[in-house]
Amino acid sequence: MSNVVLGVTGSIAAYRAADLVREFRRRGHRVRVVMTRAAQAFVSPLTFETLSGERVTTHALEQPEEWSVEHVGLARWGEALVVAPATANVLAKMACGIADDSLTTLCLAFEGPVMVAPAMNPSMWRHPAVRENCKTLEARGVRFVAPAPGVMACGEEGVGRLAEVEGIANAVEHHLARGRLAGKNVLVTAGATAEPLDRVRVFSNRSSGKMGYALAEGAYRRGANVALISGPTPLVPPAGVEVVRVTSGEEMFAALKKLLRKPAAGRDKADVLVMAAAVSDVRPKTPRRTKAKKRDLPQTVAMAPVRDILEDTAPLRKRVWTLGFAAEESSRLEQGALGKLRKKHLDAVLANPVSKNGVGFESDENEGILLLASGRRVRIERGSKAEVAGRIWDAVEEALGRGRSAARGKREKPSSKNS
Ligand code: CTP
Repeated sequence: MSNVVLGVTGSIAAYRAADLVREFRRRGHRVRVVMTRAAQAFVSPLTFETLSGERVTTHALEQPEEWSVEHVGLARWGEALVVAPATANVLAKMACGIADDSLTTLCLAFEGPVMVAPAMNPSMWRHPAVRENCKTLEARGVRFVAPAPGVMACGEEGVGRLAEVEGIANAVEHHLARGRLAGKNVLVTAGATAEPLDRVRVFSNRSSGKMGYALAEGAYRRGANVALISGPTPLVPPAGVEVVRVTSGEEMFAALKKLLRKPAAGRDKADVLVMAAAVSDVRPKTPRRTKAKKRDLPQTVAMAPVRDILEDTAPLRKRVWTLGFAAEESSRLEQGALGKLRKKHLDAVLANPVSKNGVGFESDENEGILLLASGRRVRIERGSKAEVAGRIWDAVEEALGRGRSAARGKREKPSSKNS
């Protein structure tokens, strides 16, 4: 739980700041809102007061004796200052150090991380003066949650819409995170892979990708730099996460190999890999390049095995803490998962039941047992995939704190804790 100061400025997107307050509260953070006078023309302070449960700071130039003291108190109380929506006007004032109301004065007094989520007309966002101001602020360490493309309130289309509130909240948590994943480079694979029979038909499996996406978002919220290698899925990638899209197992292997060698521009090596993807184990031996006519479809299809991505990347991930997934029938859940832990050179494996209704493949919920190479066993209670991702990351952060097992597969005495 963190203390967040939210600055709201005079954009039509000010009404979406109300949802942002709710999102911060839903995640357990405390929020205190500071509004510019222009913001109050769009939304009433009472809205923010009701949603935040805190007094809203609205003082403008005419009551300097009040705000000149209050802004210092707020600056000390807040762990992060977020200006959302941020207008071109407030960005200019921040860049120049102008302090003519509570919010801009607070911007000068605040010593913690500052984030801005701009919202304005696309032509204004492109204007050289705004570009310059953004550059100045970035050089000073202000973090931007970039505006999104879309149709503006004025009807114009382009880049300028306030980012989604979940994305803004994720970015704030990412920059405030102090746990073991903060600053780590994390790779996550997600979804099913699909192997072509012809131009339109594929062999695949029922994986939705939801678990991998939830894990990627969870790691980002805990401060990690996350790259997500995703099989085909209609899911919207979590904001702040870099996405590499692939279709076949061979493409996933190539993408992972590349990221294991060089995670991303300007980044160091990967620290953690979570292989949540459900890789199709077989592929048609001779896919056709064109769409076959129904009458020409073969009665039987010759299949070839798809390489095992985890096994084939083992030499590249000797220093990468690796968590695999094991999709198993309940009758051989732990036994099957332990076999994969050893065979695939993993630091941990999530034994994931496939025969239980409502969890795992195609479901919104999941559960499992996390088996670590050290011999520890952590029960991951049933919950939404976001909750399960949180429980998995709690266990991974704890394991990272204990240090890696000297040799994977070398087991210490099983602990009864959490089991
Ligand atoms: N995996 C992989 N490459 C494959 C198949 C699976 O890297 N060709 C990875 C999965 O991403 C998962 C782990 O290996 O992290 C276990 O996958 P799972 O489907 O449970 O097991 P398989 O190895 O395919 O074995 P089986 O289907 O016989 O249980």
